[in-house]
Amino acid sequence: MLFNICKYLEDYPTKNDAEIVNFNIAKIRSMPVQVNQIAIERSETTKINDVDFDNLSFGSVYTDHMLVADFENGAWSVPKVVPYGPIVLDPAAKIFHYGQSIFEGMKAYKDEEGQVWLFRPLDNHARFNKSAQRLAIPELPQEYFIDGLTTLLQVEKDWVPTTPGSSLYVRPFMFASGNGFHASPANAYKFIIALAPSGAYFSGKVKVLIEEHYARAANGGVGYAKAGGNYAAQFYPTQLAADKGYQQVVWTDDSTHEYIEEAGAMNIFVRIGDTLVTAPTSDRILDGITRKSILQLTDHLGIPTEVRKIKVAEVVEAAENGTLKEMFGAGTAAVVSPIAGFGYRGRDYELPELENSYAAMLKAKITDIQYNRAEDKFGWRYKVN
Ligand code: PLP
Ligand code: COI
Repeated sequence: MLFNICKYLEDYPTKNDAEIVNFNIAKIRSMPVQVNQIAIERSETTKINDVDFDNLSFGSVYTDHMLVADFENGAWSVPKVVPYGPIVLDPAAKIFHYGQSIFEGMKAYKDEEGQVWLFRPLDNHARFNKSAQRLAIPELPQEYFIDGLTTLLQVEKDWVPTTPGSSLYVRPFMFASGNGFHASPANAYKFIIALAPSGAYFSGKVKVLIEEHYARAANGGVGYAKAGGNYAAQFYPTQLAADKGYQQVVWTDDSTHEYIEEAGAMNIFVRIGDTLVTAPTSDRILDGITRKSILQLTDHLGIPTEVRKIKVAEVVEAAENGTLKEMFGAGTAAVVSPIAGFGYRGRDYELPELENSYAAMLKAKITDIQYNRAEDKFGWRYKVN
């Protein structure tokens, strides 16, 4: 019989946090999963005919169905595909008070034959559970994530767009649905996957502001996790930057603000001369799947690449002496997004428009693999059967 985790959580104040979380994870890892039982409750209507697939924005229309599973009494329920719609939560649900909430960002792509593909989904699942652990949320079995997602995508395959540059954005998320004002982990959670046919994340040129006052993450904090609160905390400084005409903030390290770390919801790359440089991951930086794919690609293509700390002063100096050739952000939503210029200490620096940029070449290489237009030497593509 499964041990009831709620009993542990009721005892929370007398127990140590790590002890509870470890117990929780060990138990959940050993639970049997029954993925052949994913039930499908079909929506009676469809919204698909209302969608203008030629003019898709990012993440603002949702498909007819979603995947839902609940963690209650110490176990995850087998996920179900249900009609997309509102969910009911108690006002005391801990998500509202203590922000126990994590998410992932993925995309499904359709090739010319109509076959649907995912990109490195096991990496997203692994990162989801890393985030879950940090936020004291029970980990989700891989089978529930992968088989749940593929079942949902089979139901929604007509929603995967084929217009150039578009894809079906996949948003798995999980949050504390259990109640209580006690500041301790909830005893109930919800896992949902929602889908949104989407176009480009950025609509125009991206200008960034190098931030020296606010910080996105701190040592020992949750920067490496995809915790909802990390994004909420970025909104205000990003709004201040937007008021000055910048689309994104380049986050620097929290203690000295001397080193560049991430660009909004993207990892950042800088090209100085012909060398591409990106910051090493740490507990302040998200271990981006696009970032690590780019690193594998540049290694394979023989592009000189360095993974090391990047001083703001070095970037400014390179901009001044003309060796700063490119900066770009990398992420699932943004793919590879060139940065047109950056602001720092009241000055604006423009980047040249290169004909043969690394950004354009790497974007083409990655998207060709994602859309099954090129051989996948790395085993990144995942067929949705
Ligand atoms: N950094 C942050 C803060 C992000 O939110 C994202 C987006 O997911 C990334 C980097 C890029 O990660 P990935 O390439 O896995 O999407
Ligand atoms: C993604 O790139 O998928 C992300 O999760 C970033 C998001 C904030 C749009």
